[in-house]
Amino acid sequence: MSEKEKTETSEAEIAVHWGEEAYYYPSLEFVAQANCTDPSIYERFSLDNFPNCYKEYADLLDWYEYWHTTLDTSDAPCWKWFVGGKINASYNCIDRHLPKNRNKTAIHFVPELEEDKVEHITYQELYVRVNEFAALLRDFAGLKRGDRVTLHLPMTPELPITMLACARLGVIHSQVFGGFSGKAAADRVVDSRSHVLITIDGYFRGGHLLDHKEKADIAVEAAAKEGQTVDKVLVWQRYPGKNSTPTPMVDGRDYFVNDLLKKYYGARVEPEKMPAEAPLFLMYTSGTTGKPKGCQHSTGGYLAYVAGTSKFVQDIHPEDVYWCMADIGWITGHSYIVYGPLALGASSVVYEGIPNYPDAGRAWRIAQDLNVNIFHTAPTTIRALRKIGPDEPRKYNYKFKHMTTVGEPIEPAVWKWYYEVVGKKQAAVVDTWWQTETGGFLCSTLPAIKPMKPGSAGPGMPGIHPVIYDEDGKEIPTGANKAGNICIRNPWPGGFQTIWGDRERFVRQYYERYCKNPKSKDWRDWPYLTGDAAMEAADGYFRILGRIDDVINVSGHRLGTKELESAALVVPEVAEAAVVPVSDEIKGKVPDLYVSLKPGFQASPELAKKISDALAREIGPIAKPRKVWIVTDMPKTRSGKIMRRVLSAISNKGDVGDVSTLANPEIVDQIRKMVL
Ligand code: WTA
Repeated sequence: MSEKEKTETSEAEIAVHWGEEAYYYPSLEFVAQANCTDPSIYERFSLDNFPNCYKEYADLLDWYEYWHTTLDTSDAPCWKWFVGGKINASYNCIDRHLPKNRNKTAIHFVPELEEDKVEHITYQELYVRVNEFAALLRDFAGLKRGDRVTLHLPMTPELPITMLACARLGVIHSQVFGGFSGKAAADRVVDSRSHVLITIDGYFRGGHLLDHKEKADIAVEAAAKEGQTVDKVLVWQRYPGKNSTPTPMVDGRDYFVNDLLKKYYGARVEPEKMPAEAPLFLMYTSGTTGKPKGCQHSTGGYLAYVAGTSKFVQDIHPEDVYWCMADIGWITGHSYIVYGPLALGASSVVYEGIPNYPDAGRAWRIAQDLNVNIFHTAPTTIRALRKIGPDEPRKYNYKFKHMTTVGEPIEPAVWKWYYEVVGKKQAAVVDTWWQTETGGFLCSTLPAIKPMKPGSAGPGMPGIHPVIYDEDGKEIPTGANKAGNICIRNPWPGGFQTIWGDRERFVRQYYERYCKNPKSKDWRDWPYLTGDAAMEAADGYFRILGRIDDVINVSGHRLGTKELESAALVVPEVAEAAVVPVSDEIKGKVPDLYVSLKPGFQASPELAKKISDALAREIGPIAKPRKVWIVTDMPKTRSGKIMRRVLSAISNKGDVGDVSTLANPEIVDQIRKMVL
């Protein structure tokens, strides 16, 4: 075991290790209509047919020019897919559907307030709105191919419209989760060097109209301090023509989109013919250091991968009503609310609010009223809905043919409730394992071909060839019943291209660990390190156990422990901070924050609150710790390293193990008494 492991906690160490479960089979009704029923797909996507197999996904799209090279590995491990190809994502998600499906709903927008009207935006309407806004971005904001623009938008149609308008121009969008703070938006503005920030005045959450515009002011000011000037803030209005924020507009910097748009009514913008490998967007995510990293996703490869997986795993057909209840501010929403479903011409639901507003039946009412038949959400939401309304789904008359779970391990008991009560035993369930970095699914069952197994994500996707390595880089064989670090042997088109502006970190973090030869241009030498621990059963199904690094998955939202710790250190009284994940019945994991104070300061409930508030302010409310423990000292190794493993064991009421080699073993009991 390396020094790193002895001193740092991995989530896998405290992961729930449930056992293997029996198979569940999809209904004949589902199989009869499924997009993918031919088991030879695994053969078609075998390593022997790699990388050309991915032509099958790329052929789901319309290309201006076909590619000459399927996979270019000359700049390993920055893979380039479909090189020579020219494509536009906005065209593929909108224009190409117009001849046949102009009047079909592209987006059903469900406002959080039930008394507000549901909007059904047709492909034609989407086309008009995207074109007009693209014209504004080009002619008023001066944005062009390759520029980055930061979006800080909630779940309203303006978000996909903005993304697709950017894509039309070849502008790289970087959407920051709406619930994140102005400060978090600022960090991303600075890193991506955005001159334009696109926001909205307000939106509904839990029945309250939140002032969102105030975050833009904070973001612009904080970015300026870091040397990045935002010269235009474009503000959408939650109610067009009406101002929903008390925060004033800044003259010469802030503009209401709806005022400006009038000049562009009727405008049409020719989609840019983008090289397949041109970046489509950045999605910032947490990693092992404090600084979030911008995962750079390509246009052609990404779109091909999300279209293919939406078709084969999500089983989207043109007549389906598809609802992914994630936030577009996360990768799930980018891939499986916007780009995948719209590339296939589906009707995709965008719901503004929280799943339980105003009551535990809301989600099922929406499903019933819109005739949703494909439903997609995260274990955290499933657990929460099960807790507050275990019988609610039975009261509503909807029928799901297919359901997805994503983002965290789902325990078999929760899976079974999802299957039996939410899905009424009629829906095929897929447990999809993947990451911001991977663009689309890595492991999942193909719903009509492979049976479901509660608690297991399933085999590698067609064309994705996972491998589990032990600490020494030896492969752990299938069925060995031993956990290890799950990697992917081969590149795939949906994989991110690099970390924006930090190739060195990209290589180090994802490829260095198991790279067979750093000079090699052969993809076989570059297994991709996912950062998760996993076990592979004899049937080739993977059970994901959790992160091996300093990432905590809170309600399916990814937070870096270092990120939380550095936010705590902003409080002047705090000397040291350590964050550990604690198992939680609903949220999967929640952070516990341990801090020690600088000399001369005293612990108090007020101070604990001040520290907790600092995390919410710096990052967002989802970063609030379960508890702030102010300790007199941290358990440390003799070299002065904080023993997070010990703190984690205490928080999780587990065994702290042998602490005799610590520099200050006596502190362990003291902290334990305090916590218990
Ligand atoms: C975890 C979300 C178990 C995993 C799409 C991964 C999962 C991290 C699953 C990525 C799943 C995601 N079962 N764990 N089905 N899906 N994870 O980047 O630890 O927000 O590394 O992407 O979530 O989180 P991210």
